[in-house]
Amino acid sequence: MNQITQIHEPVLLDDCVNLVAPALNAPGSVVVDCTLGLAGHATAFLKAAPNATLLGIDRDAEALSLATQRMKDEGLADRFIPVHAAFDEFAQAVESHGISTVQAVFMDLGLSSLQIDETERGFSYAHDAPLDMRMDVSQPLTAQRILAEYDEADLTRIFKEYGEERFARQIARRIVSTRQQQPLVSSEQLNRLVDDVIPRAHRGTGNPAKRVFQALRIEVNGELDKLRRTLPQIANHLAVGGRLVVESYHSLEDRTVKTFMNKGLTVDVPANMPVIPDDAQPFFKALTRGAIKADEQEIAHNPRSASVRLRAVELTRPIPQRWRTTFTHEAFDENEGPRHHFQNNKRKAHRRSR
Ligand SMILES: C[S@@+](CC[C@H](N)C(=O)[O-])C[C@H]1O[C@@H](n2cnc3c(N)ncnc32)[C@H](O)[C@@H]1O
Repeated sequence: MNQITQIHEPVLLDDCVNLVAPALNAPGSVVVDCTLGLAGHATAFLKAAPNATLLGIDRDAEALSLATQRMKDEGLADRFIPVHAAFDEFAQAVESHGISTVQAVFMDLGLSSLQIDETERGFSYAHDAPLDMRMDVSQPLTAQRILAEYDEADLTRIFKEYGEERFARQIARRIVSTRQQQPLVSSEQLNRLVDDVIPRAHRGTGNPAKRVFQALRIEVNGELDKLRRTLPQIANHLAVGGRLVVESYHSLEDRTVKTFMNKGLTVDVPANMPVIPDDAQPFFKALTRGAIKADEQEIAHNPRSASVRLRAVELTRPIPQRWRTTFTHEAFDENEGPRHHFQNNKRKAHRRSR
């Protein structure tokens, strides 16, 4: 057990428990942890809320099995339901267990330290490893395939959009010319390529390939797209009084969460409208003022907490039907948002590989 607790230190644990647990007082309460990981947060929620059951989702089978063992070791297994899925299958995951509404949902986005430390998965630019980067090792798309099969325009787009990389086009062009000579398969090769392209005068602190690695990881795992499709599903399954609590680790994730929460926090009518109809009134109440960040002490002890942004809302009344319909559309419409693009890319990648 100590071994598991040492692998991954939960970020802002007390804040998360204080935000989640008050929604779980009633007998039969259900909390969903969409990013179970090694169950650091999940075990703390169950201990703070003895009436609650926790459904824990993770797409990483290894994390799920370690978390399940931890629940057993800590005597919490009878209030724990493990689900191996990506969190954008949220609706199906809860409904298949006969659950229609839940009292709290928690997300601790990104990678666990277990994944970062498993160098052979190629998440880290600090170690030479095959460029894999899959959180779910059963999916076909890897970072290697993206580097081998995406065209220059698509590579530029992901480095720009997901890495906010200034030299996206130049890096993409170099990848396309290099792969004609030799395949790009290792993190060391990619580090060298980026190092060669980005001019010394334009470098910030840290590894110059950091943003390219982040962009590849987001694309491989469809991270932002999954998040955008999951938040509306969560909202449509929250009970009144239910809470949504999310920890993000980069600005694109945090912006996605903030934009989503704002839909229910603001009055939804033009500014000059004399009377605000009931269905345009806010349905969320903010539980955090802006985003909570880790303090210096936590950052010194757990460097992963340095970039965290924690936001939480409570559902104060039933979601107006108009919004429920919009959320269903955002969650499940195939042509909605970037997933369409991502899937086209996957299809393209698949076509090219045949
Ligand atoms: C930061 S860790 C969670 C750590 C956890 N809170 C703890 O205290 O042990 C994030 C976890 O979410 C999982 N994950 C990330 N994206 C996911 C997705 N789209 N669907 C399901 N699980 C996901 C990862 O596999 C990883 O195990």
